[in-house]
Amino acid sequence: MQHVFTRFSRYSWVALCLLLVACHTDMYSQPKYQPNDPSEFFEDGRANRPPVPNTVALGNYEADPAFLTGVDAAGELVSELPIELTMDLVQVGQVRYNSYCMPCHGLVGDGNGIIAQRGPIVVPSFHTDRLRSIQVGYLYDVITNGVGRMYSYGARVEPADRWAIVAYMRSLQLSQNGNFDDLTPEQQQSLESAGGQ
Ligand code: HEC
Repeated sequence: MQHVFTRFSRYSWVALCLLLVACHTDMYSQPKYQPNDPSEFFEDGRANRPPVPNTVALGNYEADPAFLTGVDAAGELVSELPIELTMDLVQVGQVRYNSYCMPCHGLVGDGNGIIAQRGPIVVPSFHTDRLRSIQVGYLYDVITNGVGRMYSYGARVEPADRWAIVAYMRSLQLSQNGNFDDLTPEQQQSLESAGGQ
């Protein structure tokens, strides 16, 4: 036995050491792309993948406090949407509202959602003078941070979608507090003729 071991040491230790030294290069020299290498795998022939839309270069992020928090640089709740009001925005808001808020606040924001109907919680209506005249920044803040017994949605709804929900809440408020005079003459006419039938 000792004979075998001695022979092994004599002839093989050096080779074994070389093998072990070589081991660490396995990962290092594996096939992989270096930055800016060409690639036949992707259609554009580049190994680098373009950054996803809205990627901000490191060190170039300029936070817009009004957009992100609903409070402007002077510390005041904003009273105008910090995002362009379009039909698309309101429609996105409708989808998000119906997913996140409707179960409690109801389809039209009267606080009569299915959870409110079945559960022990009392959910307020959006159709009060106070909430109709409150700054949009306040509504945004309620979604972001929650209020009283209402949980915050900041972690689940991204800022642009929160503003979309605010825009939709404003349209719900209008829809429940509308006036005949708000309609265009054509709409008034078609309503009158529908009513007369
Ligand atoms: C699980 C039920 C539930 C959900 C879901 C929910 N809310 Fe509420 N919300 C409440 C309750 C309860 C209150 C009353 C909180 C209090 O005053 O203690 C409330 C209050 C409010 C108020 C009134 C705040 C005030 O000052 O009177 C607004 C505005 C509001 N919620 C908006 C939303 C929006 C927008 C969403 C969706 C992003 C939403 N809520 C989702 C239960 C809910």
